[in-house]
Amino acid sequence: MRVYSIEETEDVDEIREWHTLAFPGSPWIGDDQDAYWLARSGGRVIGFCSAMHLPKSRAVFLSRAAVIRSAGSGGLHRRMIAERLTWGVNGGARIAVTYTSAYNYASLTNLLYCGFRGATRSREVGLWDGFHVLYLNLAGNKRKAPSGAFWDRVLPLIQR
Ligand SMILES: CC(C)(COP(=O)(O)OP(=O)(O)OC[C@H]1O[C@@H](n2cnc3c(N)ncnc32)[C@H](O)[C@@H]1OP(=O)(O)O)[C@@H](O)C(=O)NCCC(=O)NCCS
Repeated sequence: MRVYSIEETEDVDEIREWHTLAFPGSPWIGDDQDAYWLARSGGRVIGFCSAMHLPKSRAVFLSRAAVIRSAGSGGLHRRMIAERLTWGVNGGARIAVTYTSAYNYASLTNLLYCGFRGATRSREVGLWDGFHVLYLNLAGNKRKAPSGAFWDRVLPLIQR
């Protein structure tokens, strides 16, 4: 079993460097995320992730995550999802929202495993061909999928 730690970091420059390596050609998520985490094993960075609070929507937005290939398949992505969900709940979130490329099966598998479900609205808005937008109710009840008003607030953030 691989031993690793996941710790919040203020070092946005380091996260930006890992982001460039993990998502070549993708725009930087921005310095305005509310939290960034680094995962380490034996002192070596093996992954990172980020998230934002969306207080008006009582939501947490999981913005990015990556695991370096040599450290893959150890459940780290799922641990990083769980870490950010706990952080979101502690900040008052009742819904989690995220997105992933349509053909990113590893990411999709992990998000579904962690309880995320697809948002049909992502199809309705038409801009999301090639992506899955997913949500997870954190309130522990059987609430329906978030309403149109929720997505009107949240999708512009995801699409930037
Ligand atoms: C997405 C990512 C974070 C997942 O890392 P990981 O947790 O190590 O992923 P794994 O390789 O262990 O795969 C996770 C699950 O997906 C499954 N999976 C992987 N590739 C798959 C494929 N092509 N088809 C179907 N299932 C697949 C694995 O079997 C595993 O499920 P299991 O544990 O139930 O067997 C990692 O691949 C990554 O950093 N990719 C580049 C950056 C990225 O795409 N980030 C996510 C979007 S923000």
